[in-house]
Amino acid sequence: MASFNFFCTIFLVSILVYRAVVVAKDCIPRHYGKSSFVCVCNATYCDDSPMVGDLAAGQATLISSTKADARFRITNLTFVGFSNSLLANQIFIDPSVVYQKIIGFGGAFTDAAGINIAKLSILAQQNLLKSYFGSEGIEYGLGRVPIGGSDFSTWAYTYDDFPGDNNLANFSLTREDFFFKIPYISWAQSFSVKPIKLLASPWSAPAWMKSNGKLNGKGYLLQEYYQVWAEYIVRFFEEYKKHDLHFFAVTPQNEPADGNIPDFPFNCMGWTPEQQAMFVGLNLGPTLEASGFGSIKILIMDDQRLLLPKWAESVLSHPVAKKYVAGVGVHWYSDLFTPAAVLSNFHEKFPDHFILATEACEGDKPWQPAVSLGSWERLESYAHNIIEDLNHWVTGWMDWNLALDEGGGPNWAGNFVDSPIIVNKARDEFYKQPMFYALGHFSKYIPEDSVRIGIDLIDNSNFFGTAFKRPDGKRTVVLLNRSNEDKLIMLIDRERGSLEFTCPARSLNTVVYG
Ligand SMILES: *[C@@H]1O[C@H](CO)[C@@H](O)[C@H](O)[C@H]1NC(C)=O
Ligand SMILES: *[C@@H]1O[C@H](CO)[C@@H](O)[C@H](O)[C@H]1NC(C)=O
Ligand SMILES: *[C@@H]1O[C@H](CO)[C@@H](O)[C@H](O)[C@H]1NC(C)=O
Ligand SMILES: *[C@@H]1O[C@H](CO)[C@@H](O)[C@H](O)[C@H]1NC(C)=O
Repeated sequence: MASFNFFCTIFLVSILVYRAVVVAKDCIPRHYGKSSFVCVCNATYCDDSPMVGDLAAGQATLISSTKADARFRITNLTFVGFSNSLLANQIFIDPSVVYQKIIGFGGAFTDAAGINIAKLSILAQQNLLKSYFGSEGIEYGLGRVPIGGSDFSTWAYTYDDFPGDNNLANFSLTREDFFFKIPYISWAQSFSVKPIKLLASPWSAPAWMKSNGKLNGKGYLLQEYYQVWAEYIVRFFEEYKKHDLHFFAVTPQNEPADGNIPDFPFNCMGWTPEQQAMFVGLNLGPTLEASGFGSIKILIMDDQRLLLPKWAESVLSHPVAKKYVAGVGVHWYSDLFTPAAVLSNFHEKFPDHFILATEACEGDKPWQPAVSLGSWERLESYAHNIIEDLNHWVTGWMDWNLALDEGGGPNWAGNFVDSPIIVNKARDEFYKQPMFYALGHFSKYIPEDSVRIGIDLIDNSNFFGTAFKRPDGKRTVVLLNRSNEDKLIMLIDRERGSLEFTCPARSLNTVVYG
């Protein structure tokens, strides 16, 4: 490994030398069809995300992205005391009503993301990672890392595909970790002003530990391997620690319900809530603690919200599991069929366990195109879902692959989807999709430990919003207008006065005020 670390050091040093002077740069748009546009970045150019500097009392910054022409367009505004324009749509902000504390926003360092990033020239790679993690970017604070392979890998593997290796003597990270995950996580960290909180999730145990002897399809962890599997997960944390990568949380299984489905096409492993409770309470929890990883939070479920409340309730009501569980991970793929009220209901029953949205992507349904360049509709579905989740006690929202190719891959099982960043190797370019800006409107302006506060929208037809008090005392309000006309808004904060501005048709807006 020494030679690899040496290579990384040289690589990082040479990058720092090339770091350009920071100036505000606008989106270079490229239009596809009639929807909207992407912003084109390459080795020498990439648009940045506006910083909100110090705001004097009464000053506000409006950041708008629109279907028609804007990405992160800045407008300076001033509070005007209390006025009562009858023409405007009123929005009331009530900072005296407080809800959950925010953990953050982010995406996943999958094999596919790293494989795509690696196709770009070094300077373009740097622009891509800075776009997500740098102070000139959208300042992601979270990163999810698959433990071993997922469907977004070029082959199906685990870290120990040696049948009967019960002592994990042959456990080893793979080429994917060394070339496509570890270097990019470390590099992203070097651009970030705060520690990136890493969340780890396994897709499947080695086939020889499972009832069906395969990484996919319907199959379960055999009882005699529960402890070996807990040790395998700890080995992953030990190996990443050698590269100075530390995790804040782990989910015991990505989508535990997938492995109950016959012929499920990609890496999965089935668990009932009772089985997950036993594994967490008797194996994973104690083994993490005994090996010095007791501070890593365990998030159960990591699956569709439609499993709430029953699935999480039965794990949390299990006497051995409860003390090890910090929260619940939810994915968005069934949200069309499950009202967000299940999230609030969960919160009311388990107020000490937080909810984190751990995976989402567009283009996953059979009737949808995988990648849709420039799709404004996908910005709207992201922003709408993030607002809905935040307004129902969710503490943060994680996207899936950080970058994919123009076909939405690679994916060994053919499960191609969309990503906020699409890489075009042939032109050494990458495209920031509208979804990238959807995440940025929240990620950059709602820092960790912000607290959600009250918001009341008078017109709530096709209009959605959420509001926060930040640790620096500023307030952030995010507003989505999905309809086709501009509208005058009057934002009224009982402690500040009122602020008048226009929410353009088909727009996503962030207002930050002092
Ligand atoms: C990179 O993008 C900038 C801005 O669009 C453009 O001026 C430049 O020619 C591009 N570089 C290459 C190599 O295409
Ligand atoms: C907004 O105000 C800041 C200073 O507070 C200034 O630097 C910036 O140029 C202004 N932006 C616009 C678009 O007026
Ligand atoms: C470990 O891997 C080697 C081949 O690289 C193999 O010969 C050996 O049997 C494996 N050990 C176990 C315990 O599976
Ligand atoms: C959004 O636009 C629609 C027009 O289609 C308008 O009726 C609605 O009031 C607008 N909402 C806001 C708050 O801008």
